[in-house]
Amino acid sequence: MYKIAVLVSGSGSDLQSIIDAVESSYVNCSIKAVISDKPDVYALERAKSKGIETYVFDRKVYGKNISEEILKVTEGKVDLIVLAGFLSILSEKLIKIFSNKIINIHPSLIPSFCGNGMYGLKVHQAAIDYGVKFSGCTVHFVDEGTDTGAIILQQVVPVLENDTAETLQKRVLEEEHKILPKAVKLLAEGSVKIDGRKVYIGGV
Ligand code: GRF
Repeated sequence: MYKIAVLVSGSGSDLQSIIDAVESSYVNCSIKAVISDKPDVYALERAKSKGIETYVFDRKVYGKNISEEILKVTEGKVDLIVLAGFLSILSEKLIKIFSNKIINIHPSLIPSFCGNGMYGLKVHQAAIDYGVKFSGCTVHFVDEGTDTGAIILQQVVPVLENDTAETLQKRVLEEEHKILPKAVKLLAEGSVKIDGRKVYIGGV
């Protein structure tokens, strides 16, 4: 059975989309661990209520050593690490060990509105301020840069004239909850092939 760990920092709605997909058998995998870099976040409650093992490595306590703790829980134990609203930076060592085995969800169409400091409502405000007609979300592999890894899936979402960052975030989040489980499903099935920056889906 394909095994994953999900890393979180907040409410865990993206985590919930994976839990739901596993429960409905859309995704055939086992969530071995949910790891948070903050105590008391709702994502931990979501995991505990399903009997999933949880770990808290408080970024205020562990700082840059957080990746070492994550490795202790994941190395040799899971096939994939999913960053689902996780805000700490992972070490180069961890990223090398899990090369092409870490994915992240970002709430814009990368390479727009991404990179350092671009998270949460700031992403959506930047899209609105720029005047783009479409935004969306992206699932990508994690490399040493911020939001620079090869793109696995993207979904376009229209930006409406009366959108606020909050309304756009809500509409994008609905699509995140579809493409994140879909990416995990494709990876678990072995349907994802990587060639440099290009990702091919479906046995190419
Ligand atoms: C989403 O905007 C996602 O793109 C970002 O974190 C938010 C989801 O947080 N990386 P959560 O899953 O509700 O905690």
